[in-house]
Amino acid sequence: MSSTDILSSFPQAIILAIDAGLTVQEAYGEQLSSLQISSKPLTERSISDIFTPGVYTKIRSLIDEEITSLTITFKEKELDVYYKSSDDNGGGHLYFIDVTHHNKEELQAVFDMAANGISILDHDGMFLYANQFFQDLMGYTMEELYTESCISLSSAEYAAASETAVEKAIKYGSIQNFRKVCVTKSGEHLNASMSLSYLKSRDEIVMITSDITQDIMYQEELKRQVEMEIAKRTEQNEVMCHQSRLAAMGEMIDSIAHQWRQPLNALGLIVQGLRHISRDEQLDKESLVEIENEIMQKINYMSQTIDDFSGFFRISKTKETFDVLHSIEGALRLIDVQLRSNDIEIKIVLEDALSREVVGFPNEFKQVVMNIVHNAMTAIVKTSQGGGKIMITVGTHRNRLRIFIADNGGGIKEENLDKIFDPYFTTRENGSGIGLYMSKVIIEHHMQGRLRVQNRDDGTRFCIGLHCKGHK
Ligand SMILES: Nc1ncnc2c1ncn2[C@@H]1O[C@H](COP(=O)(O)OP(=O)(O)O)[C@@H](O)[C@H]1O
Ligand SMILES: [Mg+2]
Repeated sequence: MSSTDILSSFPQAIILAIDAGLTVQEAYGEQLSSLQISSKPLTERSISDIFTPGVYTKIRSLIDEEITSLTITFKEKELDVYYKSSDDNGGGHLYFIDVTHHNKEELQAVFDMAANGISILDHDGMFLYANQFFQDLMGYTMEELYTESCISLSSAEYAAASETAVEKAIKYGSIQNFRKVCVTKSGEHLNASMSLSYLKSRDEIVMITSDITQDIMYQEELKRQVEMEIAKRTEQNEVMCHQSRLAAMGEMIDSIAHQWRQPLNALGLIVQGLRHISRDEQLDKESLVEIENEIMQKINYMSQTIDDFSGFFRISKTKETFDVLHSIEGALRLIDVQLRSNDIEIKIVLEDALSREVVGFPNEFKQVVMNIVHNAMTAIVKTSQGGGKIMITVGTHRNRLRIFIADNGGGIKEENLDKIFDPYFTTRENGSGIGLYMSKVIIEHHMQGRLRVQNRDDGTRFCIGLHCKGHK
């Protein structure tokens, strides 16, 4: 485009033709005088002489093609500056287009419509402009903001960070979502998220401010609710643990009664026999020792039973390494009399296992085995067909220890399969419905294993999967 073309499209433009030494050769444009770039004629004057040193440096950068676009503020006007070099003598044309009006009106409309604080800061973070939203947010008028900076509006503990934010925006071009606390004119604290963009050509910073006080309050409320919910659940869990122990204890007292009935009866018989013998004949020393041995054997058995039970209720706090087979056998010892009196055959089958050692809580694990076997026994007794069988298989599957506990007690109704692990679900008249729920918690949460159930053949099969020690 020639200079005249440009002037007809942009009547407010000014064109300066300069030589290689940056001296003005010619000047065109209607606005020349109204702009009052200088009272002296422009021709034969150097660019450095016409503009302030700051503006001159920028124009230099434009001519040297270090920057491609440039807007300058000059005599309260906004001027877009372009440069086109002419091929021959090394000089060229500088175009100045007055965009004061244009920029202000359009930007003003955008700025004032925005539902965010938008402000323009100088190099040091001092306010040059702020939209209405920002003024309302902070409670300052524009006049008041001229003497403030984004640093002075920060709360004391964020002042240093705000200064760094300004420096970083200038250095890296922008910074996003910098969170800080601002202080409004009335002294209120405001949580804000700021994004700063550096406009290199103007050496100014655009700052977008969002008020996130509500968000933060909402987040904190949410956090509080979650914490409360967790506390409530933990408490609930503790209550259930307690209930489950009580339920297990009830089942176990039954077992103790069974375990003791036989030796107690035997002791009674011995005592009666003693009276008999002593009436008719003299007791010789040998028979006395024999009777004493028999009594001691019964008493030892009873005391062993009590030891087994009391150990069972001791809660272990720390994880330990234990052999699952020992625990299974220990659990079975606690109910074998009951199983026998119900004519139930129990078998342990050992498949090849990498290791039977796991890390966890042996007493809790025993409780799980007890629960499942006790349930199996109850189911078998209920079907009352006789020939009850419980089979426990210990093996490995994909680096995991796998324990099956299968019974022939008739299985679980299809529609109940999903529910049996729910707390308080029971189909038994005096059931608590806690046994399987706790078993699941112990295996899956305390020992990071798995507890599953299936109906198989004429009964139920529970499967416990555990990490072998040393395999994760
Ligand atoms: N081996 C099984 N055979 C049939 N039903 C079972 C078996 N194990 C568990 N169930 C069912 O799961 C329910 C829940 O068991 P559990 O949580 O131990 O509570 P409870 O034994 O107090 O009923 C039982 O009431 C029963 O209906
Ligand atoms: Mg049960």
